[in-house]
Amino acid sequence: MDNMEDNIKCVTCTAPVNIAVIKYWGKRDEELVLPVNSSVSVTLDQAQLRAKTTVMASPSFPNDRMWLNGKEQSMDSKRIQNLLNEIKQWRKEKHNGDTCTDGLLMWKVHICSENNFPTAAGLASSAAGYACLAYSLAKLYNVEGDLSAIARRGSGSACRSMYGGFVEWDMGSQEDGSDSVSRQIASENHWPELRVLLLVVSDQQKSMGSTEGMQATLKTSQLMDRRIQCVPESVEKIKEAILKKDFKTFAEITMKDSNQFHAVCLDSCPPIFYLTDVSKQIIQLVHAFNSSCGITKVAYTFDAGPNACLYLLEEDVGRVLSLICHFFPPDKDDLNTFVQGLQTPSISPLKK
Ligand code: DP6
Repeated sequence: MDNMEDNIKCVTCTAPVNIAVIKYWGKRDEELVLPVNSSVSVTLDQAQLRAKTTVMASPSFPNDRMWLNGKEQSMDSKRIQNLLNEIKQWRKEKHNGDTCTDGLLMWKVHICSENNFPTAAGLASSAAGYACLAYSLAKLYNVEGDLSAIARRGSGSACRSMYGGFVEWDMGSQEDGSDSVSRQIASENHWPELRVLLLVVSDQQKSMGSTEGMQATLKTSQLMDRRIQCVPESVEKIKEAILKKDFKTFAEITMKDSNQFHAVCLDSCPPIFYLTDVSKQIIQLVHAFNSSCGITKVAYTFDAGPNACLYLLEEDVGRVLSLICHFFPPDKDDLNTFVQGLQTPSISPLKK
């Protein structure tokens, strides 16, 4: 909504969550949020998990302010400031640096963001949140460009939520980070049979945030060097598997990468434990199920928390769900599941 007469400009957008199958873990540049390895993810359907952000600018606002799920947050966050400044810089460049004639740049902004799922549940809420913020601000300031580089300044994984379907975040090689951007490997319509089950083992805040966790791993884990050497081959192989819709290869690389990521966490000093006993039981159940089928039918992956994300084909959802419900009755063990399709379309301004 644009209402310059009332001196207020307002934009609302939604953005989806993405779950990595090759994890991003470790930064070579903290300020620019440049990773030590490329990563690959699947963007989920916005119908169930999404961030929604409204940004407003007005000359009557005395300060920049921000609310997350109705609670006011500090605008001092370096990430928010970097993201906002970068977008404003684009706007300045568009106006050839002539900021005096551009009132909008002088106006203060209000940001309201909410997730339609528990923010603390470790379901990549920061990825959706920062992707949404980057997109909303770009609309507000009416600028265009590769927004994945802007979203990345908020939270690394957010750059992959800029696209639907299967996405790669290329680590890039430039010092200024200009080539550390995400791109779509295949669209959300490419593999319509692929399904995602999210098993919420715990909705408690994670023991150690991703940012601190990756710093500790880079500083102290000897295995991390080996991981950095392995990832490029895994990225190439999983991209090929995605393009060929080769579920077995896709699933095996996904599980191996998740386990390698948790191994470097364990190899950090002091060790970082993200998986709980229930997470480990899910891993065992998946391997037992796959071996009873004689073929890999399900893959698990875990981010920086105990919640499992299972990839499987549509034809197996019923069987796997009943198995999960049998071993982890939701009421008893407080394990919730979401069934997800892939995301269509990509980030969109909210239609009213
Ligand atoms: C384990 O993107 O949350 O989910 O860039 O420090 O904000 P920052 O980290 P963040 O890290 C995500 C880590 C991960 C793996 C992944 O999504 O690739």
